[in-house]
Amino acid sequence: LSFALPSPAQDEPYVVHDTKPVFMLGPYISSLSETGATIVWLTDTPCHAKVVYGPAGEPLDREADNAKHGLLPVGTLHTVHLSGLEPGHAYAYKAVATRVVKMKAYWPEKGLAVESPERSFTTFDRAKPSVAFSAIADTHEDNSRVADLLKAVDWPATEFLVHLGDAFHGVESEDQLVGRWLGPADRALAGSKALLFVRGNHEMRGSFARRVFDYVPTPENRYYYARDHGPIHFIVLDTGEDKADETNVYAGLNEVEAYREEELAWLERHLATDKRAAEAPFRVILLHQPDWGWTRDRGDEWTALANKANVDLVLGGHFHRLRAIEPGTQGNDFLAVALGQDQIAKVEASRTELKVTITAKDGSPVQSFTLKARR
Ligand SMILES: [Fe+2]
Repeated sequence: LSFALPSPAQDEPYVVHDTKPVFMLGPYISSLSETGATIVWLTDTPCHAKVVYGPAGEPLDREADNAKHGLLPVGTLHTVHLSGLEPGHAYAYKAVATRVVKMKAYWPEKGLAVESPERSFTTFDRAKPSVAFSAIADTHEDNSRVADLLKAVDWPATEFLVHLGDAFHGVESEDQLVGRWLGPADRALAGSKALLFVRGNHEMRGSFARRVFDYVPTPENRYYYARDHGPIHFIVLDTGEDKADETNVYAGLNEVEAYREEELAWLERHLATDKRAAEAPFRVILLHQPDWGWTRDRGDEWTALANKANVDLVLGGHFHRLRAIEPGTQGNDFLAVALGQDQIAKVEASRTELKVTITAKDGSPVQSFTLKARR
């Protein structure tokens, strides 16, 4: 039994205009894990998106898109999460954007597709015997500082790059996000090494602050999460603001206290239940404010939790000058390092030793720290 009347008109082809989108940024990797990668890019005109990929050296015969609630998103900012990958494997991929010229209920008008150049990355792998990454902090929209720092990074010894927060003064637009940080970072990383962004207090300010996460997404849909790579169990935290929610500068628009309580509860659960958090040779926390930020005087709870979990290193920025808080000096059993504004931290770990080497923009040595595995 059918009530449908024959309507051959529905099968008329949709219009495809001879017009292509242009990639304005990326693809870059905003999140990487042992089994997944998050690919982000921007186009000049509204498009729908997919990533074609496969093990490096093989045909790119797998596809992932970002359909949501049964529809392909159409816009200029594109995020595709790849999942089901194998740890420690190299994958090649291309981002594909297909232009949508005009949205209509029926027969939206399409344009043509454009592919990015082929890029490749290697997933994280807890079985890898060593790990090396680099971190910078508090670049505060200074493009010459960003350029100098990116130029001075020891790229062969950098598997991924961490920005420890405050890349901006306050965030007002996409152009600013791209021009002052994401663009230069994208060019340096070339879609092959992940760009982990740790939110700083300044990224919580400005008319575009609520959109920042869309440009640095994670599959967890949070700024805080954990990763395993080599001998390090990584915990990325969001230390929120540096002043109380009720401070008038925020005009009643901040609810950081409740947010940080959720984060603390997550961290407590994670440390109590994650096997690798207990068993990895090293535990490293990446954050913006090494004193945990504004917590309404609950900083001691964060320190106690990190002590209990045998955290080895807390690496942040925020103070704009190098500051090392040695174990045992402020109730901390771990080393806390605040990276200076014009410095690079290179972190290298084997199963027995973790080394932090701080250098200036000109490559000259500033200070280094060596930690022995406590287990
Ligand atoms: Fe800061």
